[in-house]
Amino acid sequence: MKKPVHVAVTGAAGQIGYSLLFRLASGEVFGEDTPVHLHMLELPQAIKAAEGTAMELEDCAFKTLAGIHIHDNAEAAFNGIHWALLVGSMPRGPGMERNDLIRANGPIFVGQGKALNRAASDVRVVVVGNPCNTNALIAQHNCKDIPPTRFSAMTALDENRAKWQVAAKAKVGVGQVTNMAIWGNHSSTMVPDFENALIDGKPLTSVLTDRKWLETDFFTTVQKRGAAIIDARGKSSAASAASAAIDHVKNLLNPTKTGDFFSAAVPSNGKHYGIPSGLMFSLPLRSNGKDWEVVEGIKLSDFTKAKIKLTTDELLAEREVVKELLG
Ligand code: NAD
Ligand code: LMR
Repeated sequence: MKKPVHVAVTGAAGQIGYSLLFRLASGEVFGEDTPVHLHMLELPQAIKAAEGTAMELEDCAFKTLAGIHIHDNAEAAFNGIHWALLVGSMPRGPGMERNDLIRANGPIFVGQGKALNRAASDVRVVVVGNPCNTNALIAQHNCKDIPPTRFSAMTALDENRAKWQVAAKAKVGVGQVTNMAIWGNHSSTMVPDFENALIDGKPLTSVLTDRKWLETDFFTTVQKRGAAIIDARGKSSAASAASAAIDHVKNLLNPTKTGDFFSAAVPSNGKHYGIPSGLMFSLPLRSNGKDWEVVEGIKLSDFTKAKIKLTTDELLAEREVVKELLG
């Protein structure tokens, strides 16, 4: 067996936690030969529910699950971890935008950023709790000793949604759709970049020639999918969000296939595509299994540039709202 990997999941008793923990424990992410220790962080009032989830984890008898550690203290939960999946926070309800959660959820990521700084060093931090880009920015600013590039926020769910929509329209398998970049914020301004996506290695726009559909129905379906799920379920996405978090970790952990890329929100440094520095901005990335890099040389049309401007402005405005939390 390889060296154990320690993974913290915050909000472990919540709906996403209930899907995510089992997949982390199962061996599918870190491999059949890597023991996994789960560090479950919850609020004191949800510890009993987390204990229930832990009983179910035990009852799965996953051969790779080496330990379950339940905490209501962030620093204790983050001690020596390699991955922090920051999920625990309030979800939105019907009629809300994700950034309506900023004042309720932002402060959580101040405390957790500081706790990570004290308790972990060689760690990768993935923020799922909304608004996830700006919460990731808050956590990163409050965690001075860990390189900013170790922080990311999840837009894999948006990438998956975009891929499924175009695959269904083109009547192909979703695995035939690649190079689907999501630019910007995980919000209703996100930019699913159909112009640079490929279907079976060919430009998506040469397969799907209904430009009006791509610019309107496709775009808004992806941008508003989270709200549509809340309308239908009465609760926000959970299993699909957990599945995307698994994809996000795998995308960072494994070398990206030649020619392809994936999307995640990462700290912008002002050197790519005119995006100002100091935002957590979703970009097309490649991983070598250890570090990621931004994919260069993607051509952006005036249509896509105008959409990227809107999502950039929204992220700048969110950063302004939380400036007191940025340490
Ligand atoms: P949930 O309400 O079912 O669970 C949240 C859990 O977090 C609760 O058990 C709560 O006790 C716990 N929690 C709250 N504050 C905490 C803290 N400070 N420390 C530890 N635990 C804490 O919510 P959910 O459906 O699991 O969603 C969680 C978050 O993920 C929400 O903000 C939601 O909007 C977001 N989300 C993001 C995406 C994405 O694509 N980025 C997708 C789906 C959901
Ligand atoms: C989603 O995209 O499903 C999540 O961000 C939950 C939400 O509030 O839409």
